[in-house]
Amino acid sequence: MIILSIDIVVLPVAGLGSRFLPATKVIPKEMLPIVDIPLIQLAVNEAINAGVREIVLVTNPEKPAIEAYFRPQPVLEQVLIKKGNQAALKSIRDTLPEGVTMHITYQYESLGLGHAVLCAEKIVGDRPFAVMLPDDLIDGGGTGCLADMVQLYNYTSACSLAVEEVPREQTNKYGIVQLKGYNIIAMVEKPDPEEAPSTLAVVGRYVLPSAIFSALKKVQPGVGGEIQLTDGIAAILDHFEFRAHRFEGTRYDCGSKLGHLKANMVYAFKDPALAIPLRQWIVEYLLKT
Ligand code: UTP
Repeated sequence: MIILSIDIVVLPVAGLGSRFLPATKVIPKEMLPIVDIPLIQLAVNEAINAGVREIVLVTNPEKPAIEAYFRPQPVLEQVLIKKGNQAALKSIRDTLPEGVTMHITYQYESLGLGHAVLCAEKIVGDRPFAVMLPDDLIDGGGTGCLADMVQLYNYTSACSLAVEEVPREQTNKYGIVQLKGYNIIAMVEKPDPEEAPSTLAVVGRYVLPSAIFSALKKVQPGVGGEIQLTDGIAAILDHFEFRAHRFEGTRYDCGSKLGHLKANMVYAFKDPALAIPLRQWIVEYLLKT
């Protein structure tokens, strides 16, 4: 039997980003920077590290900045060439490495994550594929969370969902899984703490079979009137092996203000030019307040 590897990732980026309004009135949430790198670029980098060669952006025409970011900017390039600013020139040219194809498709209305994934059906076709949510930034852990999940697929042909422990009082913010061994046997979207089958929450990395598309077409709008990806996955759990992948590294929920601020601090401390003055300033500021 030939096992296909995962060569395509879907990045759903058509959400409203309402928790970051008014900034996200014109700047897509996925373009918010972690220090100087937009969240979408960090997700693309992780996908490329995992060996993915095709990227599907499921976006909204009202968010043109994301597409523009991945297009060449000849006028800006000429300015940087004239100034001899090679580092900046490289940074804007490297947004999408050679050999990587980006497909753009639209979700015209934010009808939920499951619906956004369904919008990629024609491009993905009958291949197994990955889904990454750029606002879940996973820092550390070797080659990256998605690379580990792709490797798991290559060795076992098992699909997988990245999971992490959350406090029981927060189960109503996540898709929660029920496990038997490593395998996921049930899932429920945003359960009340007293009804949650565990405290293991799904975070934004998925390796899925193409059968998810037909399952999503049958899903009725669930929590919040949205078509939930969780409900689609729950419908095919009996037919496919789904592993819970407890990833290495730390996840920052950059869809929330606190998570985004924490990620910025962590990445700033990785940059030697920022780390020392930032530490000094934080100490001074905390002593003053
Ligand atoms: P979120 O659940 O964080 O929703 O989406 P959101 O609309 O972006 O943000 P808030 O809650 O209003 O602040 C997680 C990911 O799924 C995408 C988002 O763009 C984000 O990358 N998404 C969500 C879609 O592409 N379409 C949708 O209908 C919903």
